[in-house]
Amino acid sequence: MIDGKKILFSGMQATGNLTLGNYLGALKNWVTLCDEYECFYSVVDLHSITVRQDPAELRKRARSLLTLYIAAGLDPEKNCIYYQSHVSGHSELSWILNCYTYMGELNRMTQFKDKAAKHADNINAGLFTYPVLMAADILLYQTDVVPVGKDQLQHLEITRDIAQRFNAIYGDVFAIPEPYIGKTGASIKSLQAPEKKMSKSDENPNASIYLMDDPDTVMRKFKRAVTDLEAQVRYNPEQAGIYNLINIYSACTGKTPEEIEREFDGKGYGDFKAAVGEAVVSVLRPLQERYTDLCQNKDYINSVIKNNAEKANYYAMKTLRKVQKKIGFPERIR
Ligand code: TYM
Repeated sequence: MIDGKKILFSGMQATGNLTLGNYLGALKNWVTLCDEYECFYSVVDLHSITVRQDPAELRKRARSLLTLYIAAGLDPEKNCIYYQSHVSGHSELSWILNCYTYMGELNRMTQFKDKAAKHADNINAGLFTYPVLMAADILLYQTDVVPVGKDQLQHLEITRDIAQRFNAIYGDVFAIPEPYIGKTGASIKSLQAPEKKMSKSDENPNASIYLMDDPDTVMRKFKRAVTDLEAQVRYNPEQAGIYNLINIYSACTGKTPEEIEREFDGKGYGDFKAAVGEAVVSVLRPLQERYTDLCQNKDYINSVIKNNAEKANYYAMKTLRKVQKKIGFPERIR
């Protein structure tokens, strides 16, 4: 608890262009939860280097992502928006937690298996221990709730296991975090292969809507979205393409899947796809406008970066010192 409020932590990688999946699965929920909780939103650049990055590009993307958090509606006066690499506690706690995590547990992580297959030439130890760093991110702030998309649930489970294991040895050191999964945006799929998740790293640009796509591009991508021959707008997982479009439309408009089925009863897929495209354009337009404005205001963004890193450091150090003491590291002499 901080000032009587429960604590929320979440983060995104500054790799590739953010997609509508990142927005509907995570960022949108962050904005709705931010008044209720004391929030930490990190640009997780330490995670990004598990895959080789161009340094200038990584720096640019990290700043762009931090700006986008604010553009999406997170007020940096109330929410701690910061770069993970500016708070050394993440790396320090991660090392400690490595010693309380089993190889067998990490071997089961499906994201590791997927990424190892994708980057067969660079299966580094960081890629393998990535979930431990993620556990450190979360546990460092005594987090109660972690809003994420469904693809991160396995990482949340291992975080809870590590925390419980640690607490069983040393007493109640860490809060045990709960995932928060939104109702309809939690698993947005590719527009071209709706059995796969919509991903920043998809090679086919038509598969993903990027948050900076202009309206014409958005409309064109939805027009080309893969559907089926049923010719019925039904919320049926077997109709994977349409099911995904209903989820997107629902997450953008707040309408339930049943209301959407009724709205498009007897109408063709062409009408439905155009409506989904328009709903997405109206969500993205204000975000893009705010983003462009914020990019002009360098001093403001710099002050956010500085002030919030200090705040995050303060809370991170509180937990880290407690952990160090519990495991028997010598006290600092002042
Ligand atoms: P990342 O950067 O891949 O994704 C950021 C967030 O977006 C969600 N997401 C999706 N949700 C719905 N549909 C999709 N197609 C989709 N694609 C991505 C993800 O679930 C995530 O919530 N390891 C994390 C970052 C991280 C983190 C953390 C998250 C590092 N430490 C601590 C929470 C807490 C990642 O790579 O997310």
